[in-house]
Amino acid sequence: MARTFKALLCGIVALAAGANAAPSCAAPTTTPNPGTARTYEAENAILSGTTVDTAQTGYTGTGYVTGFDQATDKITFKVDSATARLYDLSIRVAAIYGDKRTSVVLNGGASSEVFFAAGTTFTSVAAGQVLLNAGSNTIDIVNNWGWYLIDSITLTPSAPRPAHQINASPVNAAADANAKALYKYLRSIYGKKILSGQQELSYANWIAQQTGKTPALVSVDLMDYSPSRVERGTVGTAVEEAITHHNRGGIVSVLWHWNAPTGLYDTDAHKWWSGFYTDATDFDVAAALSSTTNANYTLLIRDIDAIAVQLKRLQTAGVPVLFRPLHEAEGGWFWWGAKGPEPAKKLYGILYDRLTNYHKINNLIWVWNSILPEWYPGDATVDILSADVYAQGNGPMSTQYNQLIELGKDKKMIAASEVGAAPLPDLLQAYEAHWLWFAVWGDTFINNPDWNSLDNLKKIYTSDYVLTLDEIQGWRSS
Ligand SMILES: *[C@@H]1O[C@H](CO)[C@@H](O)[C@H](O)[C@H]1NC(C)=O
Repeated sequence: MARTFKALLCGIVALAAGANAAPSCAAPTTTPNPGTARTYEAENAILSGTTVDTAQTGYTGTGYVTGFDQATDKITFKVDSATARLYDLSIRVAAIYGDKRTSVVLNGGASSEVFFAAGTTFTSVAAGQVLLNAGSNTIDIVNNWGWYLIDSITLTPSAPRPAHQINASPVNAAADANAKALYKYLRSIYGKKILSGQQELSYANWIAQQTGKTPALVSVDLMDYSPSRVERGTVGTAVEEAITHHNRGGIVSVLWHWNAPTGLYDTDAHKWWSGFYTDATDFDVAAALSSTTNANYTLLIRDIDAIAVQLKRLQTAGVPVLFRPLHEAEGGWFWWGAKGPEPAKKLYGILYDRLTNYHKINNLIWVWNSILPEWYPGDATVDILSADVYAQGNGPMSTQYNQLIELGKDKKMIAASEVGAAPLPDLLQAYEAHWLWFAVWGDTFINNPDWNSLDNLKKIYTSDYVLTLDEIQGWRSS
């Protein structure tokens, strides 16, 4: 409480006199403890489209800030730091209208997303880290989903990241030599470099034209091999694309927009080809998994077996695969996540068992793609943790990275499996956000200057910290 009171005074002084007031605020008469937290009350910050309220009890200071209902609504905190350094940021918030997301923008540039779990009281949420410049800085909390109440933010100088303790081998004891070599290589670069990556071979080649460097990793989608699409005439090309990239020395990642096996609405609003979306099908994954004799359970197995054929083609071609099924389950927007964590985890377990033990597909490194602990299928079937992050500003996505460190207890490597904006290497290093790879989504993201300017792409693709295709040649024997 005392700390909050002092910080409150500090905020008022800083606001009244501008950045010049910072020294009197940051340097009390006693020697400052570098580990000391500082709290800034939202009601004392600069409000744009937002208002102070007191109706919800439990706030600190003289109120909290609400009224986030427009895209540009925000709070701007002016914060100062004696030196350039990294701080842990926490946000005291009440998400009384349900799960929400906010955007944290540092010094008007890099943006990161923070998730607020629904709750009836004010609570402190870890919001990742911010790299403050020496002197004055701004931290904006910007609407995003809106409809939350912000009480304060707290900044605590970050401790250096401890050494990673990554498991020595893949979870599948029968992993083939190619999968083992890939895992070993990934482990050797983890924490030291990041692999550049791109969704779709065609966009990887586009990057080569733009920057002179080809991504180390290409991600392809098994979508068009889903039986409910094949029935309607799709012909997948992902396997050929993966082999092409593998043959030029690259690393391959595979996801699967699994079109629901049946129950597609196929209306004008929800076409059959959007059948992986929850709102395009009445396929009920929980009901399908309720018994192994259920007709829809049989269809799930049929679909897994169809995908097994494609993965086996890659295995036969000698291509190890970073396999990321049931992605973004926790979002709920895909049918496999629509009934909550239990069916999603169960389906993941069935996939793992069917592909590994029944089909003997041993070229896979298993990549899980939800952050929340209640969605995690467990250490025994996951090699790599990952997150899909769509935030502009080319930031380091340290919030999600740190959440995944916690989820995997730093024994699993962590990947930015889909991003809207490629991360800038100087920020990745400053934040010690040791993503193993990043893969930018294709159309409207990689080729969109609002998300990735050509200047930034060139900066990223020519950085020493970022591994490109030419720099990973020979990874199989390293
Ligand atoms: C299988 O799923 C479809 C589509 O949701 C549904 O119409 C059908 O009743 C389900 N079948 C069984 C046996 O539950």
